[in-house]
Amino acid sequence: MSPSSLRVAKRLKSIKVSPILTLSQRARDLRAAGRDIIDLTVGEPDFDTPDDIKAAAKAAIDRGQTKYTALNGAPELLAAIAERMIDRGMNLADQSIIACAGAKQVISHALEATLEDGDEVILPAPYWTSYLDMVRLKGGEPVAAPGRHDPRSGWRLDARAIEAAITPRTRWLILNTPNNPTGVAATDEELAAVADVLRRHPQVWLMCDDIYEDLVYGRRARPLLVSHPDLAERALAVNGASKAY
Ligand SMILES: Cc1ncc(COP(=O)(O)O)c(C=O)c1O
Repeated sequence: MSPSSLRVAKRLKSIKVSPILTLSQRARDLRAAGRDIIDLTVGEPDFDTPDDIKAAAKAAIDRGQTKYTALNGAPELLAAIAERMIDRGMNLADQSIIACAGAKQVISHALEATLEDGDEVILPAPYWTSYLDMVRLKGGEPVAAPGRHDPRSGWRLDARAIEAAITPRTRWLILNTPNNPTGVAATDEELAAVADVLRRHPQVWLMCDDIYEDLVYGRRARPLLVSHPDLAERALAVNGASKAY
């Protein structure tokens, strides 16, 4: 196809190149030019994939496990995820677990499956910039709920700002703790205040992006859905292997 005959869809106009990836390319360019750069852009730990994981992946390929799996994911994988969730205090029926190619794909599909044009999605700020583009691509409206800045511990989750952002068009609240980009993990008290807000607004669903849950140094809060299981039936817990492993 010649470049002149390529016409991109109108909905792509609503999104921009990720600022994170732009900055990460800039860090790579500066490093290539000989500068000593510490790159804090992409959420990627600096340790190598552990040897036992590498060996298991190679062995699986050698066994021929390179084919399509069952629709929701290989049953052994779903069972392992269920076991891990039980370890974390969440007892889920196997049918409610689905494996995708990364957390981003889960979030993207969930928004695609649920948003009508103009539906609003609340993003407690600061937030991972990709949420913005995913919501817009599915026809939704991202609505920022500003965090509360504490001079000692940084940007905190603010349940009052979240409640103020709710309208009759609000479909989802996306909660990301520990947070990208701040690294701040919400406390049990902050999560309880958010749970109370959700109880007052039963039309709002909860997406818990827990992808950084294993990268906590110090005391770890209980995941919101463990402390507040009454919210589980309108919640989607998102996790993945890209950060911790
Ligand atoms: C908050 C957050 N959620 C999800 C993802 C994407 O995870 P995955 O690589 O598993 O798609 C990232 C990656 O940077 C992230 O920072």
